[in-house]
Amino acid sequence: MKIGFLGAGNMAEALVSGLLKQGIATADDVYVSDVLPERRQYFASTFGVQALGDNADVAKAVDVLVLAVKPQGMKALLKEITVSLAHRPLLLSIAAGLPLRLFESALEGEVRVIRAMPNTPALVGQGMTAICRGQYASATDLDTAADLLGAVGQVVRVEEADMDAVTAISGSGPAYIFYVMEAMLEAASRMGMAPDVARSLVLRTVEGAAALALSSADDPGALRQRVTSKGGTTAAALAVMDEEEIHDHIITAMLSAQTRAKELSMECS
Ligand SMILES: NC(=O)c1ccc[n+]([C@@H]2O[C@H](COP(=O)([O-])OP(=O)(O)OC[C@H]3O[C@@H](n4cnc5c(N)ncnc54)[C@H](OP(=O)(O)O)[C@@H]3O)[C@@H](O)[C@H]2O)c1
Repeated sequence: MKIGFLGAGNMAEALVSGLLKQGIATADDVYVSDVLPERRQYFASTFGVQALGDNADVAKAVDVLVLAVKPQGMKALLKEITVSLAHRPLLLSIAAGLPLRLFESALEGEVRVIRAMPNTPALVGQGMTAICRGQYASATDLDTAADLLGAVGQVVRVEEADMDAVTAISGSGPAYIFYVMEAMLEAASRMGMAPDVARSLVLRTVEGAAALALSSADDPGALRQRVTSKGGTTAAALAVMDEEEIHDHIITAMLSAQTRAKELSMECS
């Protein structure tokens, strides 16, 4: 299977690296194109893949075409490649917020499209990606996309109607955790902790808490209660969080992200 990437940016790099490392593809099977010569050169020298300057040449050469440019550049890209898709490659869009109907209406014929919403931990092989398929894509096409995206983390299958929620939960999710990390680091600094020690304590605590939650049959609420003894330090902190209604504010914030995802998706279609 030949796999092409239009747009050789951060996400394409994560995916190409993951595909090669895990032996899902060989360098000979991978093509990329980018407007920037330095990105083409970087991909050719780092991964040994074929890096071309013409999107249409990549589109014509592959069985699966990953559309990896920024959402605002997608319509122009589709216009450019539409005549090069006569062999009906599987299209895999990783562009945030762009609905399946945008691809199906912009391109000629019954195009097989998969829409994916990855998140930034994909850059270190720890991504969480949700995928859904367009009306002309088959269940096998969805499996193919899951296999490819599985190279950079976990994959779940959802209905397209859930994609705005996915964006608000896992797409934007890393930023919420970074926000908590920032606050914890500032608190550590106010306690007089050296920055490098504070960094280890905070980041490893977040990593450890996620690992514990993933390995436990109990939900996060039960795990939280288990470390909260009456009259203790954790209870003192959580009492302030409850008083300030942090739990409800997080929910409101995430619902707002979902509303914004819906608006952006409408603006793009
Ligand atoms: N980064 C993430 O964590 C993340 C997470 C979820 C979804 N995504 C989605 O993944 C897609 C790619 O994101 P990214 O972070 O990898 O972007 P990026 O680093 O900006 O990569 C896109 C690359 O494509 C090039 N390009 C732009 N227009 C092109 C065209 N017409 N033909 C060929 N190459 C073109 C860009 O060049 P210029 O810089 O000159 O424009 C850039 O080198 C986006 O749609 C984004 O929504 C990314």
